[in-house]
Amino acid sequence: MSSVTPTPHELQPQIIIAGVTPGQTAAYDALVAFGESDPDGFWLNEAKRITWTQDPTRASTSSFTGDVRIRWFEDGRLNASVSCLDRHLKERADQPALIWEGETDGDRRTLTYRELHTQVSRTANALRSLGVKKGDRVAIHLPMVAEGLISMLACARIGAPHVVMFGGFSPEGISERLVDSGAVAVITADTARRGSKRIPHKTAIDQALKHAGTIGAVRNVIVVTVTGDEVPMKDGRDIRFTDLIKNQSADCEPEIMNAEDPLFLLYTSGSTGKPKAIVHATGGYMVWASYTFGTVYPQEPGDVHWCTADIAWITGHSCVVYGPLANGTTTLMYEGLPSWPRAGRWWDIIQRNRVTSLFTAPTAIRALMREGDDFPGTFDLSSLRSLGTAGEPISADAWMWYYEVIGKSRAAVIDTWWQTETAGIILGPVVGATPMKPGSATKPLPGIGVVVTDDKGNVLEGAAEGCFCITTSWPGQARTIWQDHKRFRETYFTFSEGKYFTGDGVRRDEDGYYWITGRMDDVINVSGHRIGTAEIEDAVAVDHRLAEAAAVGIQHDLKGQGIVVFVVTRASRSGVRPEDIAAVISRNVGRYAAPEKVYLVSELPKTRSGKIVRRLLRKIAEGQTGEFGDLSSLADTSVVDTLIADVARQNQSENV
Ligand code: WTA
Repeated sequence: MSSVTPTPHELQPQIIIAGVTPGQTAAYDALVAFGESDPDGFWLNEAKRITWTQDPTRASTSSFTGDVRIRWFEDGRLNASVSCLDRHLKERADQPALIWEGETDGDRRTLTYRELHTQVSRTANALRSLGVKKGDRVAIHLPMVAEGLISMLACARIGAPHVVMFGGFSPEGISERLVDSGAVAVITADTARRGSKRIPHKTAIDQALKHAGTIGAVRNVIVVTVTGDEVPMKDGRDIRFTDLIKNQSADCEPEIMNAEDPLFLLYTSGSTGKPKAIVHATGGYMVWASYTFGTVYPQEPGDVHWCTADIAWITGHSCVVYGPLANGTTTLMYEGLPSWPRAGRWWDIIQRNRVTSLFTAPTAIRALMREGDDFPGTFDLSSLRSLGTAGEPISADAWMWYYEVIGKSRAAVIDTWWQTETAGIILGPVVGATPMKPGSATKPLPGIGVVVTDDKGNVLEGAAEGCFCITTSWPGQARTIWQDHKRFRETYFTFSEGKYFTGDGVRRDEDGYYWITGRMDDVINVSGHRIGTAEIEDAVAVDHRLAEAAAVGIQHDLKGQGIVVFVVTRASRSGVRPEDIAAVISRNVGRYAAPEKVYLVSELPKTRSGKIVRRLLRKIAEGQTGEFGDLSSLADTSVVDTLIADVARQNQSENV
């Protein structure tokens, strides 16, 4: 485990911005006290937020020790889509459930709760007509179009766990995930728009399926027409989305699930091995998504919530789809990039739709900040009440910019800390009750217990810096890693006995506020995307001209972290170019993993037991040439000078 490096925000003075009211603070304190004194009562009460076919009588029966068992609301029965759709039909059938804004000007679609219910039911019936049944996995590989949200809810309606995949994954990456999840159907697009480019979706799936060969279980590929580009269709396997739902009934009996039946699988990266599918269960996830969203972004009639995350990430699942819809609000989806087709596009969308809560990532905030204050200044952003952020640490200056320039010092900045594994917000302010500190994700939500530990997992009290752990289960906690419970137990529960280890470093200040310092394991966070160093190194290893490779994350102004790869070539092989290696990574992992820099070096720094010392590589990649700290663990310290010389030579040759 690497040591925690201080991020710039820790060096900034702390400012508390008030706006809290005594009434709300008292209510919040009472909720925290309830959660601590009677967790079962607390969570059974929160469970009433959603619709159950059979109410649960028990909350958690979880244990973080032994084999590790996470279970919530075990005797409850429900269907997730009912809480998002059916139960709203009485009161808000004609209220917009989804506003979709296309990248092309004027391309817009609004679906009321009634219309969304119809679309979801027809799609669910269509999936059933293809033989998809309860328990079958369905992969969704779509850009930000309404059909993505519709497909997720359609899967939920028939009890088929969805596996949403990011459009940026390579065909190899998709293939790996299709095989691992055993998906029986894929819902994809012809092609997707991304700025001036087109991203091939259908052909990526074709390649992925070819790659998977006979070990894949996919029977059908359903193609949504997004751009109208020509794509090959395979007889008997491929079918157009519109053709499939055309004659389907608008009534679809929901499959009633046990609370612990999986609702979805979602792949994320860890420090070792292949991407892992995190499994989330129906009852606990729905209560949790509804509670966290409703608590942190309280909604009023007429509100419009816009989460800019791709639906392929956990933020998209919980804050574009399930959280907003379970709370009966209007969710907005935008197809495009932040500043496309022009700067100011986001502010235009906020003004036109009177968006009340915006939720995005620090990487987007930094990019928007660069465009200057003029663009947001020309739009009316007065509808905004909350400005959310998550996915990476936000610096105090970006926080202040968001607060002052976008929120005009009226809207609250809501820095929320969570993970694919937590499925919802663990740390975050409750507006009106939690004073904010720029750069801090504040405190745990009521019902949640967190601690800071030292490197050995011992709990630290008071102001402290160390490892971030969660002490008791929460309803939306990941149940397991798909088909690998051993990896689940070892990754999260062996670091500190009886606690869930998040993999993050944290500092707690004198006021009990938490300041996340970044990942402590070998996971790189590029623009909010988690990428394991092992994934990159495995991708490079397929090139037989290379002996070994090590990937590290370095600080990057825009992306938060950027990837730098050190490669050792086999002695007898020459002619390897850094750009070839970068291309191999883009091809095998995905475009989002493209490195900033590839260095060809003669040796990698290793410990006596052969472990690569990434901490040292990270410093060298960031341009440090001395003061490396204790190097006594290195098998051979002379490697340091050789490395610095190799790196300097390549940096220099680039400048000529
Ligand atoms: C990081 C994204 C600092 C963290 C929701 C975590 C954050 C990883 C914050 C999970 C935040 C998330 N401040 N860091 N507010 N939120 N992170 O699974 O390192 O894509 O472990 O979920 O993002 O990334 P994931």
